[in-house]
Amino acid sequence: MTYALITGASKGIGKAIAIELAKKKNNLLLVARNEEQLATLAEEIIKDYKVDCNFIAMDLSEDNAGLKLFNWCANNDFVVDILVNNAGYGLSGNVENYDMAAYHNMMQVNMATPLALILQFLPQLKQQPKAYILNIASSAAYQAVPGLCVYAATKSFVFSLSRGLRYELRNTSVSVTVVNPGTTDTNFANRAQVTNERALKAAEKLNMTPEAVAKIAVDGMYAGKAEVIPGFINKLGAFLTVILPNKLLEGGAAGIYGV
Ligand SMILES: NC(=O)c1ccc[n+]([C@@H]2O[C@H](COP(=O)([O-])OP(=O)(O)OC[C@H]3O[C@@H](n4cnc5c(N)ncnc54)[C@H](OP(=O)(O)O)[C@@H]3O)[C@@H](O)[C@H]2O)c1
Repeated sequence: MTYALITGASKGIGKAIAIELAKKKNNLLLVARNEEQLATLAEEIIKDYKVDCNFIAMDLSEDNAGLKLFNWCANNDFVVDILVNNAGYGLSGNVENYDMAAYHNMMQVNMATPLALILQFLPQLKQQPKAYILNIASSAAYQAVPGLCVYAATKSFVFSLSRGLRYELRNTSVSVTVVNPGTTDTNFANRAQVTNERALKAAEKLNMTPEAVAKIAVDGMYAGKAEVIPGFINKLGAFLTVILPNKLLEGGAAGIYGV
């Protein structure tokens, strides 16, 4: 029996990806900090989709989170054939508004733990006849984003790592897909402490639902795509980052985030 392991599955895009994968009859392993939300979701998934679904409440900002999660799977004989690195969050405002401890936590969740999980699970993934790594980056991966600088840099890391790793694994059974969503209607803006009216209004107009993003992400993963950009507006945005000068793109982002 194999499982899809999904980080950040308690809400938002990760929860929607979990449901999407359950619809496709995958057994699931759900990870996030909020145990109650994970328990409720696992119960719903087992009832609605008749798949096996287990969960563990864990803080993925901890230094040894990747190893801890791998050991939990190993101790329970959970064999993983889909690894979804979705957990992540932002910190908005000027870079100097936060201290190093706050950035360290965010960099752990957004970069270090996903890399640790890839390192831990890769040997097992390679043993499967077909396996997938689905990494959730962001449209912020394509350019510098004043007002969300460090977050955008962490997502550039995820994006670059995913593309490079995919190439390195081209002759194995493991397919790597990176998803770059634009603004999506989740708890993201709240946790990132986005308070700027312009940013919130823009998000209201452009928001995709987490369910729509999840479906496109999972379909793209199964289609073996290298990179998935959900929605026309986000595809257009990504194209503009190729053709417009950086100064203009950065000024636009700064205007939205009010810095
Ligand atoms: N929403 C957007 O506009 C948007 C756009 C582009 C990319 N993304 C990316 O999409 C991914 C999912 O975000 P979302 O929009 O769905 O936001 P969300 O609703 O805030 O969900 C974030 C998920 O990550 C988990 N998480 C956060 N910190 C964690 C920690 N220290 N340890 C364990 N789990 C943690 C949360 O669970 P707990 O709180 O229970 O721990 C939650 O399940 C993130 O990587 C985000 O960067 C979002």
